[in-house]
Amino acid sequence: MKIGIVTSGGDCAGLNAVICAFEKAITAMDPKIDLYGIIGGYTGLINREYKQLKHDDFSNIFNTGGTILGTSRQPYKKLLQEPNKVALMKENYNKMNLDALVILGGQGTHKTAALLSSEGLNVIAMPKTIDNDLWGTDITFGFHSAVNVATECIDRVQTTAASHRRTMIVEIMGNKVGWLTLYAGIGGEADIILIPEIPYDMDKVIKAVEQVKKRKGFCVIAVAEGAMDKEEATLTKKERYQKRVERGEVTASHRIAKTIEEKLNIETRVVVPGHIQRGGAPSPYDRVLCSQVGAYAAKLVIERKYGVTVALSGDKIISNNLADIAGKTKVVPPKHELIKAARDIGISFGD
Ligand code: F6P
Repeated sequence: MKIGIVTSGGDCAGLNAVICAFEKAITAMDPKIDLYGIIGGYTGLINREYKQLKHDDFSNIFNTGGTILGTSRQPYKKLLQEPNKVALMKENYNKMNLDALVILGGQGTHKTAALLSSEGLNVIAMPKTIDNDLWGTDITFGFHSAVNVATECIDRVQTTAASHRRTMIVEIMGNKVGWLTLYAGIGGEADIILIPEIPYDMDKVIKAVEQVKKRKGFCVIAVAEGAMDKEEATLTKKERYQKRVERGEVTASHRIAKTIEEKLNIETRVVVPGHIQRGGAPSPYDRVLCSQVGAYAAKLVIERKYGVTVALSGDKIISNNLADIAGKTKVVPPKHELIKAARDIGISFGD
């Protein structure tokens, strides 16, 4: 058999660990299988850029960040407008004589994987993203590594905020969902957590900052990059974006900081760790999850079970049909146990 491996979309810690585990497991199951790395995500498949992978390519990569195959974004919406790209992917898959493609990626990648599967390609996907927003899996690999980084950022901000008796805002990645901010916010002992799923009321945020400041002298706020206030939540994505462009802002963090300074006269700073949350070595949790995911995907290849993606459900690794999960977003339910626990320990969500 000839199997192509693709890493697509934003990178994260754990991609190499999955690739490595997959190779180990599949080689043990069938040493005759040939593995091909598609270079630079779906773009590599469109341009037929690939290389045969030998055992040495997989050594010493397990605990490294990034992806040895490279990655890129090929937005799904754009792909639909350029059907020639989908045709090229199909054509190149056939020209390369591949029996299956294993695809590591997040939401957008899964939509394209489902499309390729419906076009007749043998596809097995694996759930990657620091956002943890992929439907059908409890946890995506890369998420916990990013939680570790974002939590450490908040830890470090805590000490400087305390020294200066300032309010500090840490803006955390996560695209349209608040999982990363919620976990890191709780883990880093933030006083206020603002996530897109719970639109905030600025007056309530101000009140919460005032109370926290009175109680301990400084305040740390974890703000998801997708956080929005109650008024913004009534707007469409386009209208919201337009308004922010008019105000010269991309995210809510700086606006929140400015309002706190104006209304409370408290020095406020914004810290944006950005892509640091995606870089670096996978955490031990992710290394374990990646090993399970890679091994399970190898089993699916041997069983020729295609059109599926690997998922974590409780303590079990399972597979979901791509058609059932593609295009669905796993948001934080506002009544989630973690939100309840956070509220119980006095964290404000500004609502
Ligand atoms: O989806 C992962 C993610 O890191 C999001 O959290 C973030 O909004 C986005 O990717 C950033 O994308 P890029 O690397 O293209 O700037």
